[in-house]
Amino acid sequence: MRQQSGNEYAAQYDSGYNAWLSYPKLQQGPLYKQYAKWCGAVSVTEGGETIQAALQEWTRGIASLLDLEAVSKPQLEDFGVAFGTFTGDHPLLQGLFEDETVQAVGVEGFAIRTSQSLKCIAVGASSQAGVLYGVFHLLRLIASGKDIENLDEIVNPVNSLRMINHWDNFDGSVERGYSGRSFLYENNQFTKDMDRITDYARLMSTAGINAIAINNVNVHALETLFISTYLPDVARIADIFRIYGIRLYLCVNFAGPMHEGEVGTADPLDAGVKEWWKSRAADIYAAIPDFGGFVVKADSENRPGPFTYGRNHADGANMLAEALEPYGGIVIWRCFVYNCKQDWRDRKTDRARAAYDHFKPLDGQFHDNVILQIKNGPMDFQVREPVSPLFGALERTNHVIEFQIAQEYTGQQRHVCYLVPQWKEIMEFDTQAKGGPAPVKRIVDGSLWGNRLSGIAAVSNVGNDRNWTGHLLAQANLYGFGRLAWNPELSAEEIAAEWIALTFGTDTAVAGVISRILLDSWEIYESYTSPLGVGWMINPEHHYGPNVDGYEYSMWGTYHYADHQGIGVDRTVATGTGYSAQYMGSNAVRYDSLEECPDELLLFFHHVPYTHVLHSGKTVIQHIYDTHFEGAERAEGLLDAWGGLKGSIAEGLYTQVEERLQGQAAHAKEWRDQINTYFYRKSGIADALGRTIY
Ligand code: GCU
Repeated sequence: MRQQSGNEYAAQYDSGYNAWLSYPKLQQGPLYKQYAKWCGAVSVTEGGETIQAALQEWTRGIASLLDLEAVSKPQLEDFGVAFGTFTGDHPLLQGLFEDETVQAVGVEGFAIRTSQSLKCIAVGASSQAGVLYGVFHLLRLIASGKDIENLDEIVNPVNSLRMINHWDNFDGSVERGYSGRSFLYENNQFTKDMDRITDYARLMSTAGINAIAINNVNVHALETLFISTYLPDVARIADIFRIYGIRLYLCVNFAGPMHEGEVGTADPLDAGVKEWWKSRAADIYAAIPDFGGFVVKADSENRPGPFTYGRNHADGANMLAEALEPYGGIVIWRCFVYNCKQDWRDRKTDRARAAYDHFKPLDGQFHDNVILQIKNGPMDFQVREPVSPLFGALERTNHVIEFQIAQEYTGQQRHVCYLVPQWKEIMEFDTQAKGGPAPVKRIVDGSLWGNRLSGIAAVSNVGNDRNWTGHLLAQANLYGFGRLAWNPELSAEEIAAEWIALTFGTDTAVAGVISRILLDSWEIYESYTSPLGVGWMINPEHHYGPNVDGYEYSMWGTYHYADHQGIGVDRTVATGTGYSAQYMGSNAVRYDSLEECPDELLLFFHHVPYTHVLHSGKTVIQHIYDTHFEGAERAEGLLDAWGGLKGSIAEGLYTQVEERLQGQAAHAKEWRDQINTYFYRKSGIADALGRTIY
């Protein structure tokens, strides 16, 4: 472990670099005494890089939380902590965990128990990664001020794949990156800063992540060579990830065989193409024996894919799967497949239909080591959209859900928008598959259909900014994603509380303020941006800031069909695109019906006059005015609330958030004014409360 001076630590803490591994010092008191009693000594008898990393995490955490040097010894003479794998030779662990417990602990899980008679808190696991998760669990309990005198828990992750997708480019830019440039690459070279990679792996693994794809889904010319020329560089990163229980994945270019070698085609049924991928796979596994697999974006937004050769996506994915299969590798094939240039002026063609229309007919045709990756909604990570109807519709295909931690459409990490409540809502959505109840969380964890491979992926929000995520509060989304992927039963409040304790300490007044800010933030952001589920309304290309008709793929008109009479997209069966019929049971009925459709999604499913009355009792136009006035006011309120923390938290942390909240409050007014003015001019209907519309 790198030794840090106190000053170095303080500077790192102030910048936000340590994130949820800050281990803020605990106050003296009865709990402090309890922790000091147990944590003065630690016993670890096993070697192995991951166990040693767990030991380092423990001693580092205890030193910081309790100002105590945890003495590491083979045998405990008095109170202490012991950890290791069940098959290791630690006598305390063997005595403490009976067979039943050992069997109940899965590959990545752990058991943790306090034994008063043996004067030991033991963490036991089947794998070294499980030990690391368990050790961090204990640190989290201490950092959050929980009693540790009577621990007795078995903890297993609910989802087997818990994945982060980087959209980092080799030139150092990050597609949809809002926290500086890439910390992985610069100027078409891999970073030499392996300390930063190590700290990143620590952060990811302690949040529960076990898979990371390190390059953008849009694979450019040089990144195509990550599986050949640049393999040694990739392997160096994989070596670090491995210590922390993380498998490395790469995004690949479906047209790879045409860029390198003599193949001249990328047709998935061509023998030369198949051989090319097989030989690439052999090279990769020689360099990285635990390589996770490929992530693929094909036939979408100008990416190459099997359609060019008249093949379907099962042909494409299965060909790659065959190449990886001998090594246990997997293909993660994205369902974000749509024609961004499609002409929808007939009002029947509908981008929202695309994923279902492409992939439902292929259900059951994919190999066992293929996972389909489905964006949470049918469009593209908007602040509000319905859940993708593909969840529940795929009965015989492995699949994972894809969230976007990067806040492309939710304030770009300049606005605070804690996304865990949104993800929770999506995970709880009852798809009604198999007769229901069938919430999304039971589909993506593999239990509903008995999938071999399943889980959750998300687009990273990390860059080389000192605090990783640009906005300090956006760290809560990164941490929260990992925790939710580990256990979807955790509430948004619980996750926020954990993150706050780990980052800022246990002051309850501070925690109360930050928690409120986080938990209100999604609703506030939604209220001053695009209304009632219609989405978009952002500037072209970079997607930041209000522009009602701005989205670049709106070339055939607008994505919301607003005219002087009304607004919204008719996706009903009788008169619209028929998208509502992609849902099952009462979901299809509810969304199709103007009367039953929930207010927050009304304009996603229906085109209505501005005078249409919502369930809330307000007209659509009055709802737009009210939410935008209130939203801008509430954004200002976030700044005021944060102001109350001045002096109670580290200055560096305070000021960086204050600056962002000031920007957000101003920008929320711009949103309010642009949206309200646009609809006032379009509709000619005045605000019932007579407020000034600019
Ligand atoms: C969005 C985003 C793109 C990204 C794409 C994807 O459209 O704006 O930058 O490439 O999603 O998920 O593939």
